[in-house]
Amino acid sequence: MATRSPDLSPRNPDWWRQAVVYQVYPRSFADADGDGVGDLRGVTGRLDHLATLGVDALWLSPFYPSELADGGYDIADHRDVDPRLGTLEDFGALVAEAHRLGLKVVVDIVPNHTSHLHPWFQEALRSGPGSAARDRYVFRPGTGEHGELPPTDWQSVFGGSAWRRTADGDWYLHLFAPEQPDLNWANDEVRADFRTTLRFWSDRGVDGFRVDVAHGLAKDLAEPLRNTGDIGATGEESLPRVAPGGHPYWDRDEVHAIYRDWRTVLDGYSPPRTAVAEAWVPGARRVRYARPDELGQAFNFEYLEAAWDAGDLRELITVSLSGARDAGASATWVLSNHDVVRHASRLLLPPGTDAEAWLLSGGRTPALDTAAGLRRARAATLLMLALPGSAYLYQGEELGLPEVADLPAEALRDPVWEQTGRTRKGRDGCRVPLPWTATGPSYGFGPGPAWLPQPPSFASYAVETQTGADGSTLELYRTALRLRRKLLEGETLTWSAGSGADVLDFTRTPGWRCVTNLGEVPVPLPPGEVLLASGPCDGSGVLPPDTTVWLA
Ligand code: NOJ
Repeated sequence: MATRSPDLSPRNPDWWRQAVVYQVYPRSFADADGDGVGDLRGVTGRLDHLATLGVDALWLSPFYPSELADGGYDIADHRDVDPRLGTLEDFGALVAEAHRLGLKVVVDIVPNHTSHLHPWFQEALRSGPGSAARDRYVFRPGTGEHGELPPTDWQSVFGGSAWRRTADGDWYLHLFAPEQPDLNWANDEVRADFRTTLRFWSDRGVDGFRVDVAHGLAKDLAEPLRNTGDIGATGEESLPRVAPGGHPYWDRDEVHAIYRDWRTVLDGYSPPRTAVAEAWVPGARRVRYARPDELGQAFNFEYLEAAWDAGDLRELITVSLSGARDAGASATWVLSNHDVVRHASRLLLPPGTDAEAWLLSGGRTPALDTAAGLRRARAATLLMLALPGSAYLYQGEELGLPEVADLPAEALRDPVWEQTGRTRKGRDGCRVPLPWTATGPSYGFGPGPAWLPQPPSFASYAVETQTGADGSTLELYRTALRLRRKLLEGETLTWSAGSGADVLDFTRTPGWRCVTNLGEVPVPLPPGEVLLASGPCDGSGVLPPDTTVWLA
């Protein structure tokens, strides 16, 4: 494969190939106006943290008008800012400041559904069955003698039926919360409107898009709609049980025409706007979203879901690199985001542990050793940052934050909690607002208390506490990102003979070697100058368990 320049200058159309992108969940990042909820001015005021950290871009999770039925992924207007988070002027100021600091800006685009408060859905409710307004969504009559049963057995990702009945008896589809009706992508008006949205943000200087539920837009709407009874559960986990492209609503082949259309819009800008697919789809099918004439990149969730096992990871890394190369994309790596248990906790859960059950126990069963979790997370991060391709970081992981697993029931905001009859706690534990200082009502997040309670332990994780502190996780990330910039070249790696049952050992050019010990006992440390280590590596010639070292 051709060697790619790590040139991240604004005009380089390939800036994204090996970029480190930092995800900001705006409501939990920094609160400038003191209402307890993070906002755009809060983000702008803290952009220096990202520049000092050394990332290349920030990805802003939704900041659009929303009643927060799903943490902002229920959008009432795709081309505006939620008044609680700021204004379009605030957004412009954020982009200008990010660009001044040399940071690219990626925003979320949520094309699978709108909020039920979106004017289109309100019009659809008013307009009645068979109307053009209803055709922008997926409305159907019910089944059963009086239409009292849902049209199909399709299930919501958040639990329960994916259909909700309206006052006039028609049902509408919502693959997520009932407040998130699915759009009908066979409708030309829907397609045209999202082209307008892509242009709207691109014209405001946005450098790229993260595409929410990229694998869900195309549905099999052939009549009669078919039940999925033969498939069993109907979440993404059912995909391997159907022939490729054969699921009624996940990962259908027709979805790719939408992204080829989007690519023509994105390529109309200079440099072309980038896009990354959120597609919870098995690897070989997932890379199709990343083809150069489509989105360009797709999140590698198999990496996030992989066990802490050298053999499994080596295989996965190899397959991910060749899959991305064959698709003409660069590989992506991610360990944490706003939807999953933070990796400082997750990687320590014994294989096979049900994370939902663990959260429901308040993080008590099994009880995790926070220090051991952090040690492993730091090793995993240093391994990830040495891999060819681009890495996505989630706010707070640079502080080594663990999952806040013991949030009280009354604090929970994720719709998953109620929609599953309080049997799944949901994703609030990774969305607790960031600690910036060791003191203050919300540890520097804002002038008052934060919308989700922060545990007292957050003081020790604060940016202020870790800045300049020898061996802190924040300083580890800063050093790693600075070194990575210097060492990046090409998009390949070579496995070294030292790789084994418990060790991952590879070289990147020029002479940059990364070795991780995933086992339970120390292993010999290969020769070379230690550039950086995720944990104590004191020159005694051994690499301790759960440690990664970069060697020259
Ligand atoms: C994926 C987002 O990451 C998640 O937070 C959201 O709940 C669903 N898509 C629905 O938009």
